[in-house]
Formats: sequence, structure tokens, C-alpha cells
Amino acid sequence: MTLKKITIAVDGHSSCGKSTLAKAIATHFAYKYIDSGAMYRAVTLYAIQNQLIDSKDIKKDILENDLNLNKIIIDFKYNETKKKSDTYLNGHCVENEIRSIEVSNFVSLIAELKFVRQKMVALQQGMGKDGGIVMDGRDIGTVVFPNAELKIFLTAQVEIRAERRFKELIAKGDQVSFQEILNNLTTRDRIDSTREESPLIQSKDAVVIDNSRYTIEEQNLIAFQLVEKCL
Ligand code: DC
Repeated sequence: MTLKKITIAVDGHSSCGKSTLAKAIATHFAYKYIDSGAMYRAVTLYAIQNQLIDSKDIKKDILENDLNLNKIIIDFKYNETKKKSDTYLNGHCVENEIRSIEVSNFVSLIAELKFVRQKMVALQQGMGKDGGIVMDGRDIGTVVFPNAELKIFLTAQVEIRAERRFKELIAKGDQVSFQEILNNLTTRDRIDSTREESPLIQSKDAVVIDNSRYTIEEQNLIAFQLVEKCL
């Protein structure tokens, strides 16, 4: 008997470990994993590289005129050594650059733009058309895959999220302060949850996991059991 290949949406606040959870589910069930945030980050990097944004006061209409999404090709390629997918922007691996604090500081501005969201959502729906996919983001269960068989809403206290992110960036050699990260997360939570276009909201049929006090293994186990119930 072959098990059915379901669609799994993992939404939630910034830096609460959505991608860690989504990747673990994908590995465990041999599903495809897509990090939808990486797509918004890649568009942001393109905008920075092309001098389209350098300040938070950037006007939406300037981006609407100057940001030509037809010039942007985003794809994911599996990296055998790292055992994970890397994000490519116009043929270049940008996996590290899209995680920088500079991109993090501007990404919510880009993710607010309706024309950017429409294009990303269409690409994401195409990637998930055959099921057997875990996608993480902010609007996956509400907009991208409203019929997903399983929707998980992951969250954790903001100070705990900031501490985890701080340690991760310091380990990579980034020069950041805890306060900078905390400010970035608080701002992103606010923008993501209050924007007009597909704000981050908990889908009514989502299962909430608050991982503030869980280890990764504990959170994964809860999620695997949720998936199994759907198969
Ligand atoms: O998951 P992340 O932190 O890498 O996402 C980066 C930003 O992109 C985040 O601030 C909100 C936005 N985003 C979004 O609006 N919709 C998604 N589906 C994924 C991310």
C-alpha cells in the first residue's frame, strides 16, 4: 500500500524554527521541502544589489516601477554535501547572503508588495501541485495551500527566538548584537502580522505548537505524530 502524499503548511513568527521543523518533516517522510521565506529574501537581495532599496523610507511606488520580477529567476538546488537545498538567484547560490541582517532588515518591505506576493504565491503553488511537500512561511496555510491536509502554526516567545538567532549568527561570524536581533524580530512580527496583503494569521484549522520550552527532538516528535494521523 502506498501512503498518500499530503501537503503540509508550516506557518508562524520569524525565527521560531519553522524551517528546522519543516526540513525534519520532509526528511522523515521523504517529502519535498520549500522555504518560501528564502524566495522573498532572494527578491530583497536582488533589490539591494540593484540599488532599488537602501532605506526603510523607500516608497512602494518606486519599487513597483523599478522592480522587474521578470528579471528574477529563483530556484532551489539540493546540496549533497550539506544535505539541504540552497537558494539560487539568477543562477548564483545566494544561500548565505539572503540570511544576512541587511536582507533581514528589508525583507518585510518587499514581502508587503502585492505584485511580489502574487508572483511568489503562483510559483509556490506550482511547486506543490503534486503534493508530498512541506512548505514553511507566513501565508502557506491561509493563501498558498488553503486545502493543505495539515497546517502547523509554530511560535515561541520573542526573547527566546532572538536568543536562538543571535547564537546562530554569532557562530557564523556575523557582527550583531542581541538587541539588534530582538528589534528586527519585533519589527518583522509587527509588519508581517499587520500588512494588508496576506498578513501572518493563524489559520482556524491550524495546530499550534509553541516550542519555547521544547527541544528540537520533542517538537519534531509532536509534528511527526500529527503527520501520521493524516496519512
Ligand atoms: O521565514 P523567513 O524569516 O526567512 O522570511 C523572511 C521574510 O519573508 C519574513 O519577514 C516575512 C516574509 N515572508 C512572507 O511574507 N511570506 C512567506 N510565505 C514567507 C516569508
